[in-house]
Amino acid sequence: MGDYLAINKALRDERAPAHAASADYGFDRFIGDPDYLSGVVRFDRPRLGDLTGQRGVHLQCHIGTDTLSLTRLGARMTGVDFSSAALNQARRLAECTDTDIDFHEAEVYTAVDILGLEAFDLVYTGIGALCWLPEAALWARFVADLLRPGGRLFIREGHPMLWSLDETSKPRGSSTWTDPPAVPSGSIRRAGSSGSSSPGASSMGPSSGPPRWSTPPARALDFFATAQTRF
Ligand SMILES: C[S@@+](CC[C@H](N)C(=O)[O-])C[C@H]1O[C@@H](n2cnc3c(N)ncnc32)[C@H](O)[C@@H]1O
Repeated sequence: MGDYLAINKALRDERAPAHAASADYGFDRFIGDPDYLSGVVRFDRPRLGDLTGQRGVHLQCHIGTDTLSLTRLGARMTGVDFSSAALNQARRLAECTDTDIDFHEAEVYTAVDILGLEAFDLVYTGIGALCWLPEAALWARFVADLLRPGGRLFIREGHPMLWSLDETSKPRGSSTWTDPPAVPSGSIRRAGSSGSSSPGASSMGPSSGPPRWSTPPARALDFFATAQTRF
């Protein structure tokens, strides 16, 4: 588990500043408009119900855009993530938007030790969170411990295999995979190979410009299956 966590955390630390600077996460929009909500929470809003005054914890809160959005819906939020770089960005966003959010750097399985038993009305998690965890049953036990009796767990997830497919597939060279590989460079092993590849390597995409994946679905699946077995 030690190696697994270290590799995963290194990846998250590396990505956090890029995510915070990207238009997709929209820090500028949060700062410019006090009513702005992330697309994720906007979608979830009808299902979340009234959050006014609720104590919520966002597990694997990343750079805090969804955590801030839940606060804007009236909840008193705590965010937990094990990436200090992600939390630096989350705290910066909270400060820039003058929002009070309690962020904790912690591994999810230790959250109860830090936050206490039955401290929350709501546990919120999702969008690429659960797939990174090695132990679902243990996670569920800790979630139950975080919730007060009658509290709610809200999960919004996708299946990693579905996410690896591009249903609008175009000819090679124009895929939607624009992220660098999901593990630090040099640590990806392709299935059935003992070699390694790096972001922007010629077999993966153009040799110049930002890292870009030109990966047809079959290769994406191959990569994803390999990444999953490593993690
Ligand atoms: C893909 S991000 C989630 C993205 C988030 N839904 C968003 O869009 O803002 C996954 C997050 O889980 C965190 N994470 C992964 N494994 C973790 C663990 N075992 N304990 C705590 N945080 C973890 C990572 O640091 C990262 O910020």
